[in-house]
Amino acid sequence: MPLGRPSPSTDAWWYAPGTLIVATPDLARRVLAGGTGAFGVPQVFSPRTSATVVRETRSVRTDRNTAARPTMSGEWIDARTPQLVEAIDRYLDEHPLPRRWTVLPTLYDLTTALATRLCLGVFSPQWQETARLLRAATPGAMAAGAPVFGRARQRRAFDTQAQRVTEGIGHLLKQRRACPAPAADSLLDHLVTTAPRDGDPDGRAESVHLETLWLTLYTAQTAPAMATGWLLHLLARHPGNQATLRKEAVHPDSQTAASRLSRTRQATDEALRLYPPTWLLGRTVHRATEVAGHRLAPGDDVRIAVQLIQRDARYYPEPDRFLPERWAPGGTATDAPKNAYLPFGAGTHFCRGTAWVYALTGLTVTALLRRYAFTAPRHPAVRPRRSGHLEPTGLTLLCQPLPRASTPPHHQVTGCRNAHVS
Ligand code: HEM
Repeated sequence: MPLGRPSPSTDAWWYAPGTLIVATPDLARRVLAGGTGAFGVPQVFSPRTSATVVRETRSVRTDRNTAARPTMSGEWIDARTPQLVEAIDRYLDEHPLPRRWTVLPTLYDLTTALATRLCLGVFSPQWQETARLLRAATPGAMAAGAPVFGRARQRRAFDTQAQRVTEGIGHLLKQRRACPAPAADSLLDHLVTTAPRDGDPDGRAESVHLETLWLTLYTAQTAPAMATGWLLHLLARHPGNQATLRKEAVHPDSQTAASRLSRTRQATDEALRLYPPTWLLGRTVHRATEVAGHRLAPGDDVRIAVQLIQRDARYYPEPDRFLPERWAPGGTATDAPKNAYLPFGAGTHFCRGTAWVYALTGLTVTALLRRYAFTAPRHPAVRPRRSGHLEPTGLTLLCQPLPRASTPPHHQVTGCRNAHVS
């Protein structure tokens, strides 16, 4: 039984001394709701260098969320759909898929290009390389909510990369600030154009901007690639659903506004239910409290078993089946209790990037379905890697190219913001 659940009807149990697992929507709500002050987010990850990890404060988190807020909306991402579609098409033109396709490296590459575009406004190889460095350096720092910064070698490697990325982003911020008429096109542009005009005496705005760019650039190229991988894994095994999504993919709406992909959205919700990249949510106990009869002391950990909750037959009939239609209006998923669906968390720390997730996942999958039919090979099977994230490691698919409809001309990025990039 995963996570050592003693029996299917046990809702809270000790995984190890000091670590309680909870696996019902009600208990999840209690832990995630905040307000009581009993639980806090663990200090697992903060950008820039390992030394800043312990310094992250609630107010920095809030400032980051506030700074980025307008760019996290559905409208903001919809307005960029044509550019994203072009970027994906360009990538797939330049990198046609082999008949036997190892999925994850391509998806990471692609989401890196898209995240770089959305965050920094640039497509240049130099910046994609910087973003890649960030992705390569960070997983160790995030492993399963357990700080690995005790390990000196890992810490040094992370710090070296982190410094390069920080300097690079700092340089871009400076260049952008010097631009006479910034176009509000990327997260970077947004931060620069909304920065206080009366200076930044204590350097706080600079720090918040750097961290916002750092974290968003990292987040937008990792979990969305995993979610897309899981969705493709499921579609390859469900040709009927694949055909339904392909119909939506060839509709012109799919290339003008990500939010119009309703069937793709339902399939994504179902993939996130079966394979939530954040399969465990963590909280640290700040004040002595009690959960489901278990006493918790300050410093104890509580983990919410997201994947167990989302595959529990009490909340989802036929919980292990891929049934995107359960998310249609009036579908069975609408009867599930509120906190039975937690791929993006809940409460105070609910994910701010959901509009980006549905856009990146939806547009990538639709672009792929316009070009290829996917089937699953018998071997090798995908091996879910449950470290910090639930990742479809080893996912391989068979790709059959389809006759192509016309591709829109590639978008020409022009203007001041790109004057400096290759
Ligand atoms: C499939 C992709 C993603 C998944 C599964 C995911 C999942 C989550 C989860 C579970 C949390 C809550 C963590 C907790 O309560 O401890 C979270 C928080 C967050 N996510 Fe996402 N996320 C994804 C993509 C993104 C993207 C693309 C962005 C930004 C563009 C983003 C920005 C954030 C931020 C800023 C928070 C922290 C909110 C806070 O603490 O106030 N996420 N995410």
